[in-house]
Amino acid sequence: MKNHLTIVDHPLVQHKLTLMRDKTTSTAGFRQLLREISQFLAYEATRGLPLTHTEIETPLTRMQAPIIDGKKLALISILRAGNGLLDGVLELVPQARVGFVGLYRDEETLQPVKYYFKVPHGLEGRQTIVVDPMLATGNSSVAAIDMIKDAGAKNILFMCLLAAPEGVARMKAAHPDVPIVTAALDDHLNDKGYIVPGLGDAGDRMFGTK
Ligand code: URA
Repeated sequence: MKNHLTIVDHPLVQHKLTLMRDKTTSTAGFRQLLREISQFLAYEATRGLPLTHTEIETPLTRMQAPIIDGKKLALISILRAGNGLLDGVLELVPQARVGFVGLYRDEETLQPVKYYFKVPHGLEGRQTIVVDPMLATGNSSVAAIDMIKDAGAKNILFMCLLAAPEGVARMKAAHPDVPIVTAALDDHLNDKGYIVPGLGDAGDRMFGTK
């Protein structure tokens, strides 16, 4: 992928995102829309996967037909909101290997602290897609990608639903080799670190915890 930031401006994605932003949208509706959008984002995020050919037989003839080359994709969800994107992508790429990164923010240092980390073996040879719906300050995404690189990943892409300019800049500074695929680049972060206009707390809206 050539660009550092790709915005998926397909009308269906933009329409569904508007429904997600609307505060009257239900928890079930929000979750369903996120699942649907995740598949459009995944379509873009997987565009660069290498293909090879294999011989198959159709009912009419033999042919060399394209299939995805190399090791299976790795999907890594940043807990907990990343799971809302993960499910839809897994429907499209059911053989993908799956990992999870759990981080919380230390109230004193304000730095992300790891509480869970389990990722597939052999990340060196896999295209790795890290999923988290909201790229806000970029602190947790940058920390998660640091850990994923330490675990061996070399070919990483970050997929989110909404990005703030601050988060994009932070990611570009820390991980210029990691392209970002998102549905929208919003205006700014407020003083509590929420994306504006945004959609609120993605985890709460997805799981009905507020
Ligand atoms: N995380 C969220 O869930 N929402 C934001 O606006 C920012 C970070």
